[in-house]
Order: sequence, then C-alpha cells, then structure tokens
Amino acid sequence: MTGKRTATSDLWWKNAVIYCLDVQTFFDTDGDGCGDLVGLTEKIDYLAGLGVTCLWLMPCYPSPERDDGYDISDFYAVDEKLGNLGDFAEMLRTAHDRGIRVIIDLVVNHTSHLHKWFQSARKGRDAPYHDYYVWADEKPENEAKLVFPGEETSNWAWDDQAERWYFHRFYSEQPDLNTANPAVRDEIAKIGAFWLALGVTGYRIDAVPFLLEEVSGVAADGKDPHALLRELGTYLTRRRGDAVLLGEVNLPYDKGIEFFGEYGDELNMMFDFRLNQSMFLALARRDVAPLVKTLKELPEIAPECQWTNFVRNHDELTLDQLGDAEREEVFAAFGPEEDMQVYGRGLRRRLPSMLDGDDRRVRLVYSLMFSLPGTPALFYGEEIGMVENLDVEGRLSSRTPMQWSDGPHAGFSSAPEGARLCRPLPEDHAANVADQRRDPHSLLNWMERLIRQRKECPEFGWGKLELLHTKGAVLVHRCVWDGTAVVAVHNLGDEPATVTLPKDCTEFRDLFGDDDAEPGEKITVEAYGFRWFRAGGHH
Ligand code: GLC
Repeated sequence: MTGKRTATSDLWWKNAVIYCLDVQTFFDTDGDGCGDLVGLTEKIDYLAGLGVTCLWLMPCYPSPERDDGYDISDFYAVDEKLGNLGDFAEMLRTAHDRGIRVIIDLVVNHTSHLHKWFQSARKGRDAPYHDYYVWADEKPENEAKLVFPGEETSNWAWDDQAERWYFHRFYSEQPDLNTANPAVRDEIAKIGAFWLALGVTGYRIDAVPFLLEEVSGVAADGKDPHALLRELGTYLTRRRGDAVLLGEVNLPYDKGIEFFGEYGDELNMMFDFRLNQSMFLALARRDVAPLVKTLKELPEIAPECQWTNFVRNHDELTLDQLGDAEREEVFAAFGPEEDMQVYGRGLRRRLPSMLDGDDRRVRLVYSLMFSLPGTPALFYGEEIGMVENLDVEGRLSSRTPMQWSDGPHAGFSSAPEGARLCRPLPEDHAANVADQRRDPHSLLNWMERLIRQRKECPEFGWGKLELLHTKGAVLVHRCVWDGTAVVAVHNLGDEPATVTLPKDCTEFRDLFGDDDAEPGEKITVEAYGFRWFRAGGHH
C-alpha cells in the first residue's frame, strides 16, 4: 500500500508531537530529590492527556554527570539514581499502552572518560580499545572550533597514562570516539539495536556533524562519511520498521541538508535551528521579514523526511547562525544582561521570562511554531510557562525540576521540606500543573487544545507551504496537502492589524473560536494575536 493517507500513519514522525524531558528532573517518587523512572511512569497519563505522541528522553545512562548525562560511562544500563532496566521497560510499556512512542538520546560522538573503553585505551597504544579514540603524539596546532568557549581552551587534552594527546569536541572528560574505526561503528549499531529491542522507537542523535567530521569521524578514513548514517539507518529500520533517527544538526541549510541523505536515506528528522533563530529575530523586531526569508530558503526535502521545530530546547537558545548585529538585537530584546547569555552566542532563559511574562505573546510563539512546516517539539515545563533559574550554572538554568503543584518542592519530590533537590527550583515557581488544570483559561489547557488542533491539521506536517502575507508584523501562511488546506495568521506586533484573506476557497472555518470568515474578507488580528482556519473548497 502506498496511498497517501496510509503513509500518514507509517511515517508517524511527519506529524508527531514530541515532548523532551529529563527523567532526573521530572518526578521524584523515592524522595531522594532526584526524579526517577517510576515517577515518569506515574506521569505518563498526564502526558497522554496533554496529547503528546512521542517522548524524547534525555540520557538515562550511567554517567559521572560532567555534562548532565551527555557523558556516558555505560551504554547498556540506566543510571541507578533513576532506577533500573526493569523500571525502564515498565515505563516503555506504559507509554506504549497510552499510544506514546519513546525515543532516547544516542550520544556516540564521545564517551565519558570513565567509560571502560577509555580506561582501557589509556593503558597505551597496544591496549585493545586504544583505537576507539583519537590520539596524537604531538599536540596538533590546528584547533577545531571550541563548543564550550570559556570552559575549555583546547580540543586536545594530555593523558598522563597513555602519554599522548586525545581529541575531545566537548569537555575534556568527553573523549571523542574514533568513528573512522569500523569496530566503533559496530559498537554504535549494537547500542542502537539494544534499546530498540527493549522497545524504544528510535533516537535523537547527539552532535551529528561531529560524528562524521574529519578529525575523529568517518571522514578521517577518506571514505564517504555519510555511509555511517545510511548504514545505521538501514540497520535499525531492519530491526524495527518504524524506527526514527532525529538528528541534532545545527548548520546552515546548504550543509545541513546533506544529513537527510541524497535519497532521504540518512536522518529521518532534523531540528530546524535556522528557522528557530530566524523566528526569534522576527519576534525581537516585531517584523516577519527574517522569518519569511528563511521560509523562502527552506530546502525541499524527501517526503519521508521531516523538520522538527521547537521554541526552546535543553541547551542555550543558540543564535549562532545569525549575524553579529542580529544576535545583538535578540540579546537586547530578550536577554540584555550578561548573566542571561552564554558562550557569546546564546541565551539561557526560558520563553516566558524573555517575553516579560506576556501570556499573549507566549501563546503567539507556540501557535507560530506549531504551524510552521515540520513536527513540533516541546521541552518539559513549556506547557505551563515555567521560567529558568539563572542561579544554576550555564545551560542547566532551564533544566530545573518540573513544577507539579504549589506544595513543597513544587510537588516534584517527596523529599522532606528543606531537603536539597538535584537542581534548585527557580525563585518564581508559581506556575504549576495542579493550578492550571483547574483553570480553563490556563496555558496548560490552551496548550492541550493547540496540540489537539495541530494533530487535526496534518497539512502543517505534510503540506506545501504558501506564503500569503509577508509584510510588517503579520504573517499569513497556508499549507496545502491532498486537496485540503489550513491557513494561519500571526501578528508579531504590539498593535492590532488587519489583513485580507485569500479569495481562492469557499470558506474559512475558525479553528480556535467561532469567528468564521469569508473568502476575501478583511479581518482584524489583535496585538500578538493569531488565528488558524481550515480553508474549505481549496484545490
Ligand atoms: C549536544 C547536547 C548537549 C551536550 C552536547 C555534548 O549538543 O544537546 O546538551 O552537552 O551535545 O554531548
């Protein structure tokens, strides 16, 4: 069967609603101040009720936590503070029972320095795992770009035991794996197959371009570096037909697009960092022009592939693809103080603080993100408008505990009052799930509705984008697919605006209210307002 409508369920990632969370900061049931897998399992009904269809779990593997779990010391276990593999399997079963798929982070650009491979590798150049890493006798002069400027000064670190230099793209406690080594590629495939066998539906692949790069990656052996992704994708899809690979690729479109593969046979999905950054520039200017420019440049992708859109993720809001002056504009609008910025390229705030708590504007941003071509992804706490804690170091400022109620520890933990949590709550932790459940006008209830609406508009995920109004503060866009169409209107400005709807359809059915419109009608959109319509009779 190759029918279009059949493919809507086969290629489930074309229209998923992804929700990213860290088990550690989600819900603590054993009172140790740290979230656990049993806690997540208890909250699956909450997530199902919200309407999310795919959970992305940040790393759960054992880790010394130099990089919040992105430094893994064992790929075949879960960190004991979160539970055990049995708890993981129970969590998966519960999620599946509620119709939710689970994907997990696959972090194989590097390991923790405490991983047994590295511990063995250090013993010298004849050690069995030595070639799993990237070594040099002399410190190479050419440095690759530092990912954590200010925290690391070089990509090469000296190892006393091996008496050689090793390459690390991130922290020095995260030695890069030598993915040019076929044995390492086999290990990656085996790790991928293991978690699929347990029941995950695929992976968010960490730091993809670095996996393939010249210094440590498969490009180093002079072969086609993209073979790694192609082979991994084919292999994992053989093991599980609906497996997805969602890659972290923060590159300009002309380079990034390569990671979908020439025939759409590498990554199935990629985060659209470019669109995210253009959206923030447009919001800062209250002018849709930067967003429109990017939407016009958005490359065509194979029908099996998909962009993943987001407002904020677990890292800093990186603005590295903007020009210097543009980045300064976004800083000035949304994070003027030095403490709000990080690495000279990003902001470590969550959205509501950047928008001075203006609820209209917060909803505008989510409405916009959900209607842009691609699949939407939320970061836990966005649905209730959680804010960050700038007292927490670096990028961890937005990874504070989930706020469930107005009780002790915001309902996150059963630890005694006054006990230390794995990460401190922000001073303002008033936003919480329990209160917002009871308020029909809350952000939470609105978000639930947005998600429901988005699921009923597959055109945004599958359709062809048409830009209908692209001037000033107002964007009107339409997505057309299989003979049906949806139209979205967004006003980024702080004043009401009027806009004329197109004439080439029979009706405009209001999707968030009961204010239907006529073809060719001039409608008024409130300051920071938005409207979604189903356009009838569109061809
Ligand atoms: C990715 C992750 C980030 C992590 C880094 C190293 O960029 O998003 O959180 O620090 O990879 O694994």
